Amino acid sequence: MISAAKKRLIFALDVDSFDEAQRWVKNLHAKVGLFKVGKQLFTRCGPEIVQMIRAEGGEVFLDLKYHDIPNTVAKAGVEACRLGVKMFNVHALGGLEMMQQTVTEVEEWCTANKVKRPIMLAVTILTSSTEKTLKGVGIDRPVVEMVPRLAALAKEAGFDGVVASPQEVALIRQVCGADFNIVTPGVRPAFASLDDQKRVTTPFEAISNGADYLVIGRPISAAADPAAAAALILKEIASALAAG
Ligand code: C5P
Repeated sequence: MISAAKKRLIFALDVDSFDEAQRWVKNLHAKVGLFKVGKQLFTRCGPEIVQMIRAEGGEVFLDLKYHDIPNTVAKAGVEACRLGVKMFNVHALGGLEMMQQTVTEVEEWCTANKVKRPIMLAVTILTSSTEKTLKGVGIDRPVVEMVPRLAALAKEAGFDGVVASPQEVALIRQVCGADFNIVTPGVRPAFASLDDQKRVTTPFEAISNGADYLVIGRPISAAADPAAAAALILKEIASALAAG
């Protein structure tokens, strides 16, 4: 059960140097399924960061949230495949055609190169956005309407899932069904501080509510013993999987 739990744990590699990232990967790769590389670390280190993680035996979630014209996003998606990432994401607000073209080109490239297609995720509405933020950019619909609408659009385009807040999981499941990956940040085990996260769920609750993958950063990185904290989280995920 622990190996099934490990696949679902994504560690947010929110650091700004190659060496620090490498220390985390060496310390945690036996405990976490994927390392999330975001805009800060990627902009600092470039593709070498992905190569290092893979060389250390880790898998990568490339969290660059592409949003551009269809051709540009599709080509960026192909480059993510060439780097060997296991998961990458785009903004669903880029639209159906952008996501469809990405699926098509990524699938063609993966078939031609005999590699497994990465898990393609869409971000619906960032959890930092409020109704006011949306109104400011001319979107008059409430967040609770936009999130399932964009999740359904991602599914229609052939995407594999979405990144969503734990509070949105049930709504997305209703619209997109069981066969759709939901990745949730904002997860806090009972032993950890809330940091700047406001609405949180525990790993047990998140998995029980239907999340497939959990993105967790500071509850592990700020712990006195990060590997032990990751091990506790794995236990909690495993018990939710066993209960489900
Ligand atoms: O340290 P913590 O567990 O809060 O890290 C969560 C990670 O998930 C960070 O990389 C953060 O940027 C990301 N994230 C988030 N909330 C979202 C989307 C992404 O916390 N809505």
